[in-house]
Formats: sequence, C-alpha cells, structure tokens
Amino acid sequence: MLSRISLFLSLLVVSSLAEPPARPVHPTTSSAAPAAPSGTCKCTAGQPCWPSAKEWNTFSKTLSHPIFDVHPPGYYCHDPHFNAALCKSIQTNSGNSIWRSDQPGAEQSDNWEFTPFSQCSILGNRTDTCGQGRVPAVAVNATTVDDVQKALAFAFKRNLKVHIKNTGHDFLGRGLGPGSLMIWTHHFTSLTFAKNFKYKTGQSAGVPAVTVGPGNQWVDTYAFAAKNKVVVAGGIGALGSVGSGGGWPLGGGHNILSPHLGLGADNVLELDLVLPNGTFITASPTSHPDLFWAARGGGGPSFGVSTRLVYKAHPITPLYASFFEALTATPAAFVQLLDTYHAALPALADAGWSGYYPFENGSYFALMYLLPNGNTTYGNATLGTFIQAARAIPGVTIKTDATTTYPDYQSWFVANILDPVNVVGFNYTGGVVGGLGVDTASWLLPRELFENPESAHTMSEALLTVPAGIGQCVPHVGGGVVSATSPTFNAMHPNWRTSLSDISFFGAWNDLTPQSTIQGIRQQVSDLLKPFRDLTPGGAQYLNEPDIFVPNYTVANWGTNYPRLLEVKKAVDPTNQLLVVQGVGAVGWDAEQICKTS
Ligand SMILES: Cc1cc2nc3c(=O)[nH]c(=O)nc-3n(C[C@H](O)[C@H](O)[C@H](O)COP(=O)(O)OP(=O)(O)OC[C@H]3O[C@@H](n4cnc5c(N)ncnc54)[C@H](O)[C@@H]3O)c2cc1C
Ligand SMILES: *[C@@H]1O[C@H](CO)[C@@H](O)[C@H](O)[C@H]1NC(C)=O
Ligand SMILES: *[C@@H]1O[C@H](CO)[C@@H](O)[C@H](O)[C@H]1NC(C)=O
Ligand SMILES: *[C@@H]1O[C@H](CO)[C@@H](O)[C@H](O)[C@H]1NC(C)=O
Ligand SMILES: *[C@@H]1O[C@H](CO)[C@@H](O)[C@H](O)[C@H]1NC(C)=O
Ligand SMILES: *[C@@H]1O[C@H](CO)[C@@H](O)[C@H](O)[C@H]1NC(C)=O
Ligand SMILES: *[C@@H]1O[C@H](CO)[C@@H](O)[C@H](O)[C@H]1NC(C)=O
Ligand SMILES: *[C@@H]1O[C@H](CO)[C@@H](O)[C@H](O)[C@H]1NC(C)=O
Ligand SMILES: *[C@@H]1O[C@H](CO)[C@@H](O)[C@H](O)[C@H]1NC(C)=O
Repeated sequence: MLSRISLFLSLLVVSSLAEPPARPVHPTTSSAAPAAPSGTCKCTAGQPCWPSAKEWNTFSKTLSHPIFDVHPPGYYCHDPHFNAALCKSIQTNSGNSIWRSDQPGAEQSDNWEFTPFSQCSILGNRTDTCGQGRVPAVAVNATTVDDVQKALAFAFKRNLKVHIKNTGHDFLGRGLGPGSLMIWTHHFTSLTFAKNFKYKTGQSAGVPAVTVGPGNQWVDTYAFAAKNKVVVAGGIGALGSVGSGGGWPLGGGHNILSPHLGLGADNVLELDLVLPNGTFITASPTSHPDLFWAARGGGGPSFGVSTRLVYKAHPITPLYASFFEALTATPAAFVQLLDTYHAALPALADAGWSGYYPFENGSYFALMYLLPNGNTTYGNATLGTFIQAARAIPGVTIKTDATTTYPDYQSWFVANILDPVNVVGFNYTGGVVGGLGVDTASWLLPRELFENPESAHTMSEALLTVPAGIGQCVPHVGGGVVSATSPTFNAMHPNWRTSLSDISFFGAWNDLTPQSTIQGIRQQVSDLLKPFRDLTPGGAQYLNEPDIFVPNYTVANWGTNYPRLLEVKKAVDPTNQLLVVQGVGAVGWDAEQICKTS
C-alpha cells in the first residue's frame, strides 16, 4: 500500500535555517556569518529598532483588519497558554491541510515553523516551552491592495524583515521568517469568470479567463466546470488546498493537465503586483513586460506581492483514464519493468498521455494516467503496448489494469483525489498530509534521458534503491504544450521545455524525531537524487519542490534565465525588501536573509 506521503508532499526543517532569529546574537556556528555592519541587517522583533506597541497600533489603524501577534499552532498546548479544549482541537486538526492553511502561524510541513532550538510541538508535554521558532512576530491580514501597500511601506520605512505567506505549502517554509512582519494573503479569495477576458489595457485577450485572489484555494475553481471550462490548477494533493495565486504559479505550477494546457505560469494572462516599494502595477505582455516575465517562474515573492491573477480558461474535454499496478518478484523484474516504462515514456507523451508513476520498495509500480479525448482503441494502441510488454516480463504480476472515462477534469479530480470512496486500483487520495516534518528534493528529467537506453537504465537502477518510507511523486507533467512553449516565454527554468517528468522524493517525520535522525533523512533525500543530477550536469530542480542542499541553486532553479531575473530584481527591489531562501537575489545573505554576509 502506498503511503499518503509517498504520493503527495510533506515538508521539513532545515539545519541551515537554524540560526537564532535575533540579529545581534550571532549564530550557532561561530565561523558562519561574521557580524555584519548594522546597515546591512534587517530589523527583527526584540531589537531596539523594532516598532513600539504604540507605533504598531497607529499602523494597525490604517489597515482593513487589525494586525495581530502570530503564534505557532501548538501555542495553546503549552503553559502558560495551555487550554485543554483548544489543544485537543489543534491535535485533531493538525493533519488537515485546509485547517493548516487557515492558521497564520502554520506551515503545511510543520518543521518550517521550528528551529532545532525552538519548537512548539503539539505532541510535546504541556510543560515544554513553546518557542516562536521561525513564526513571524506580527501579521497583517491583507485583504486589499491598500493593505499590502501600507504594510510594505511600513516595513520599508522601518527596515523590517518581511515575509509573504499565502496557504503555507512551501517546501522551504518561505512564507515564514523569525522576528518578521508577515503579510498574509490567504484571505484574498475572489474568483470571477469572464467569457472574453479584457486586459486592463482594454485589449481583448480573445479567450475566456478565471480571475482569482492569491489565497483562493483551487477547490472552488472546479465550479467552473459548470461553465464547461477548466483552468490548470494547483495541488493534486491536500484536498486541493494549495493557494491559486501565491507560490504555485509564481514558481511554476504543474498539473496532470499541463502537457495539454501548459504549466500554471504559462497560463497567467495578467497579474497585479504590489512592488517592494509599495507601487501597485498590473503586469501583462504589454504592461511591465519584464516584471510579467520574471514573476511567472521567478518564484514568489521576489518581484512583488500578487493580489490578483488571471488564468486562461480552456474548454473541458472528456478524459480517458488508465490505472495500472504491478508487483515485481525480484529487483531484476523491477528494473526491467522500469526500463520498459522509461523507453515507452516519450511515445506515451507524444500520444497525449500524462500522469503520475508512483513506485515503492523496489517491488511496486503504478500508473495513474489520462488522455484527453481518448478512447479504448487509441488507448490500447499506445499505453496498451506498454502494458502488454510489462505483462511479458518474468516476475511481473499485473494487479490492476483498468480504464474508465470521466466527462471532465473535475470528475477525475473528485474521483481520484478528493473522494476516498471511488478509488480505482490504488488510493491516490491525499486527505491528510499536513502537520508532519517534510524534506523534499526534485530533479527535472529531460526527454533525452528516456530515449537513451543507458541513461534510462541508470534511472531504473536508481529508483530500485529508493527505500520504503521515502515518499515520491513522479509526475509525467512535461512534454506536449509544455515543450512547445518557448524556453524564454517566462522565467521558468528552460529545462521545463525539454523535460518529460519531474522526479521528487520526500522524507517525513513527526516533531518528536531527534535532530540527528532528521538530518539523516534530509541528507538521504538529497543523496537519492544524485544519480539523476549526475545524468544532467547543470540541470534543473523544480523550485517549488526544492532541495535545501542543491548545489548552485540559482543555476538549478533558473539556468540561463537567472542573469535576466537578477537584473529585473535589482531594478525592482534595490533594497532587497523581499528575499527568501533560494530566491532571486538571496545570494550573499545569511540563511534567514536577515543580514548580508558578503
Ligand atoms: C500538499 C501539497 C501539494 C502540492 N501539489 C503540487 C502540485 O500538484 N503541483 C505543483 O506544482 N506544486 C505542488 N505543490 C508545491 C507548491 O507549488 C508550492 O508549495 C507552492 O510554493 C505553494 O504556494 P503557496 O502560496 O500555497 O505557499 P506559501 O508557502 O504560502 O508561499 C510560497 C512562496 O510564495 C510566496 N508567496 C505567497 N503568497 C504570495 C503572494 N501573494 N505574492 C507573492 N509571493 C507570494 C511566499 O513568500 C513563499 O515564498 C504542493 C505542495 C504541497 C504541500
Ligand atoms: C512527557 O513527560 C513524561 C514524563 O516526564 C515523559 O515520560 C514523556 O516522554 C514526555 N513526552 C514527550 C513527548 O516529551
Ligand atoms: C482575516 O480576515 C478574514 C477576512 O475578513 C477573516 O475572516 C479572518 O477571521 C481574519 N483573521 C484574522 C486572524 O484576523
Ligand atoms: C518491502 O519489500 C520487502 C521485501 O520484499 C517486504 O518485506 C516489505 O514488507 C516491503 N515493504 C513495503 C512497505 O511494501
Ligand atoms: C480515438 O482517439 C483518437 C485519438 O484522439 C482519435 O484520433 C480517434 O478518432 C478516436 N476514435 C474514435 C472511434 O473516437
Ligand atoms: C484493449 O486491450 C484490452 C486488454 O489490455 C482488451 O481486453 C480489449 O479488448 C482491447 N480493446 C480494444 C478495443 O482493442
Ligand atoms: C483512501 O485514502 C483516504 C485518505 O487516507 C482514506 O480516507 C480512504 O478511506 C481511502 N479509501 C479507500 C477506498 O481505501
Ligand atoms: C555554479 O554555477 C555558476 C554558473 O554556471 C558557475 O560559474 C559555478 O562554477 C558553479 N558553482 C558550483 C559550485 O558548481
Ligand atoms: C517603485 O519601483 C518601481 C519599479 O522599479 C519604479 O518604477 C517606481 O518609480 C518606484 N516608485 C517609487 C515611489 O520609488
């Protein structure tokens, strides 16, 4: 049985994020980060530069909602704030992604709320100290552009460390930062549909579109199936809880429909941004084209805070779906099955298939594939060929070989992701994924790796070594329209255009796990990708599924697009207001981007 973790995501904590928050106290490892001159540090809570209660109060009155102190989710499970009923409810809900997305201090992967020295575990004893960890000190509950402008202006004037958080799915916890002011965009939840979208410039786009607030969770967008339209949406897992307009599109956004309709970032027609200096702009192909290019794939929030995004809407199509599960009796059978699949993948992509290919324990392999407008004859002639070949491999037992047709994406999503009852073959339903520590690492797999039998075999052997307990999600979400899009269309790593799949591994733990074990898991997750990195030197990771240990992250995240991104960043954010881990412009800053170190 595949674990939930193995199919979706979970998150993590990182030792390199571990420095204590306050600036003057200098970190842990004495050799790291020499004390920087004060002019190159951001102001964090607890320092003399931090605004007084009175100043916060005056600022608060200018906003649509009062500011509030942010607490880690486990706050009420510990003295002196212990509250039995609240704590119980927190413990009950902790694994629920939607609940976590509603907690300002929570990340989906709770390890990002902590530092190794400061935890606030909901599993801990009541008498354990609840530390603030990486949870920001104060938050603005932003619901208007004006809120975001005022918050950024206030942060700028006072040199405050600022973080932007949406639904908290980031795999490096980039929505949080110790001692910071958080701008929370989760409550920008609007959703509208236009039959013929008009840009702000007045020009008609000639296509229908869905306009969303960044915090709108994609679940709602399925309502648009009623209008016979579909948008490329975020988050196969977690009850569709990924926000529609924060990290997902700004970092890329893949979906099983991407080979047919493009990546999330490819589908954005226009977006509103509050720039780091508080200026409000609308970016589109003809308005601030540099920012429009950079924001789509450059990663949030490096170029500003998005407050409204417009996605192209596409006609719905019926989806022909295939479900396949195989058990292998020996490592050799597993490798041969994977070799066969890898060899078949380019042709499957060309035939219009896309999907996910989970595997486990060197003895299990599955496909959840779909083909828009497909039918049995065509399906048999394409994917059927692979299944026939798989059947013939000694030591391979086919457990599931089923097909079915869904009238549209919404039906497929409900049946296979949201509704735990209608599961064909294996259970891909990611109902409960939040509230664990998770570490991830990913690598894009170019088409040529599948076409070359030697590299394809190297990948099969590498997948054999993935131990039980390490989760993975291997989305075949490239090729097709993704490959037909120009590598400079937006800021996505150019390898997205040549890759067919994005392999990602996940390690997970609960927050009582000892640091040494956690460090071991994190290293293991990164190391498991080494054979794939070695096959594509200078290749790409998916920046929304980032490896904290990835060598040379600017190259891994953006490749040849990085120099242009850095130029745009320097122009729009000369004072480095909006920096995050592995973000554009963060080179030369400490692990929490509080002080410049070089
Ligand atoms: C359960 C789960 C399922 C997932 N499924 C998929 C999937 O199917 N496909 C896929 O591509 N990815 C998937 N992801 C990865 C996902 O794309 C990233 O985690 C993404 O960063 C989430 O964005 P967010 O706004 O929800 O997260 P947050 O953690 O709130 O924000 C992420 C980053 O964006 C910035 N940001 C947030 N809001 C804004 C804003 N309004 N303006 C500017 N910057 C902002 C933050 O500062 C942070 O750096 C999944 C993640 C999880 C946990
Ligand atoms: C809580 O305290 C008890 C008694 O000191 C101890 O046995 C137990 O291991 C603690 N539990 C946790 C989760 O720390
Ligand atoms: C934030 O604003 C939303 C929308 O008005 C509201 O529902 C929510 O309760 C607010 N949350 C906090 C913590 O202020
Ligand atoms: C992994 O495989 C081993 C040996 O085949 C088996 O004993 C074990 O139960 C499997 N574990 C899982 C999680 O499938
Ligand atoms: C089956 O699907 C293929 C590919 O989409 C298409 O070319 C063919 O016309 C379809 N056949 C039928 C009978 O619908
Ligand atoms: C498709 O293949 C399956 C076996 O995999 C077979 O049972 C079925 O008859 C085939 N259908 C067509 C239309 O060829
Ligand atoms: C599928 O998984 C979900 C989430 O873990 C679970 O609630 C559900 O019962 C499972 N469904 C089946 C049919 O096993
Ligand atoms: C990182 O990439 C840059 C640009 O390609 C290159 O100059 C540098 O040598 C690389 N560094 C490492 C450690 O690989
Ligand atoms: C804010 O930044 C933008 C983009 O760099 C620039 O065009 C604008 O003039 C700046 N506004 C102010 C008030 O500095």
